[in-house]
Amino acid sequence: MIRAITGTKDILPNDVIKWTYLEQLVKEIFTNFNYKEIRTPIFEETQLFARGIGEETDIVGKEMYTFSDRSGTSLTLKPEMTASVVRAFIEHSLGKLQTLNKLFYISPMFRQEKPQAGRFRQFHQFGAEVLGSDSPLADAEVIIIAYRILVSLGLKDLRVKINSIGIPSARENYKTVLRNYLKDKLPDLTEESKVRFEKNILRIFDSKAENDIKIMQNAPIITDYLDEQSLSDFQVVKEALNSAGIPFEVDPSLVRGLDYYTKTTFEIVSGKVGSQSALCGGGRYDLLINELGGTDTPAVGFAAGIERILLACENENAFTQDDSSIDLYIVVIEKNLDKEAFRLSCLLRENKIITEIDYSARSVKAQMREANKFKAKFVLFIGGDEYKEGCFNIKNMETGDQKKVPINDISSICAMFNK
Ligand code: HAM
Repeated sequence: MIRAITGTKDILPNDVIKWTYLEQLVKEIFTNFNYKEIRTPIFEETQLFARGIGEETDIVGKEMYTFSDRSGTSLTLKPEMTASVVRAFIEHSLGKLQTLNKLFYISPMFRQEKPQAGRFRQFHQFGAEVLGSDSPLADAEVIIIAYRILVSLGLKDLRVKINSIGIPSARENYKTVLRNYLKDKLPDLTEESKVRFEKNILRIFDSKAENDIKIMQNAPIITDYLDEQSLSDFQVVKEALNSAGIPFEVDPSLVRGLDYYTKTTFEIVSGKVGSQSALCGGGRYDLLINELGGTDTPAVGFAAGIERILLACENENAFTQDDSSIDLYIVVIEKNLDKEAFRLSCLLRENKIITEIDYSARSVKAQMREANKFKAKFVLFIGGDEYKEGCFNIKNMETGDQKKVPINDISSICAMFNK
């Protein structure tokens, strides 16, 4: 038997209900903040991500699905959206059309990570990129949107963590301080952290090893080494979140695993999804657009993992969205009326009434069972004495009330559904 690839998942009809509910909510909230949707291709030239995300990151170093096409061009399935959005922003000169571009997306992403609960190889993100504002209020806005979406889904066990990693020069100073602190502790660090010490020292904060955590707990903190602008911007972010009533904590170890960040970084974590607890993450990336060949444009954004969010919803019993019921089921009492029933079903569907009908000439009892399975709000019977009198019998499945409707009076059936 051929099975789905490890780390990928079929989204079956019962789950799709939850996905569409979430996607609609996401679109509504982004629209409320005046964000416009952007869609980019599934694959891009590999160098976009290598340059955008950073050669030394786990994503570029270990996780990308990269392949050569028939012409020998190296292509990569997108592991994240920020680099793709920036590429599109530059390519289509979006900054010239409008000084501030507020964009959102919902899209599959691909990373060859070790699959586990909440971690997949094809997963889905929704997210936002705000291009063209250096205001820390824009940072606060994207954090507020992310939080608003999660809370609107019914999630409660959430922690908003924020940090500032400053501008590159301040960060370089801090890295030197950190290197000095860790120099004589190097033998006690894990092998992975030793490699990070050489290549990407801040990422040692992401180590899950107990001893590494202990060592890093006493490390100097980045917020003590920030430049003045980053510090005052960070202050504005905190004040804006306070004024919006968003609870948050400052976590100086929040460095994030992508290289493009400057100043604000943030994550929202759930206490209900185990080790893969980050439901979303983001931050400011003021230098990326220039690095990818565009004119200097400050930017900020975030992305959230849909699978993880739905897992958190399930574990918190957050939303029990069940709109799988249909409006009306047509029960054919006399088999020779099947064509009449079919004609009626087409008419009702044209009038936006969600209708189902039996094509396999089953007994009335079997059809009623089916109507119950589909949670039909009403059942319409074709046949019997009512039909001879020129009427359909319609039963309200919730109250049990029945009423006769003349065969040609489709409008009164529509009225029952406000359609
Ligand atoms: P990221 O932290 O790599 O950031 O991913 C954002 C979210 O995607 C994570 O918090 C997580 O919920 C989800 N996610 C990541 N990897 C997986 C996986 N293998 N399986 C399931 N879910 C996953 C970014 O992608 C940045 N582009 C965010 C950003 C936008 N920063 C600025 N703008």
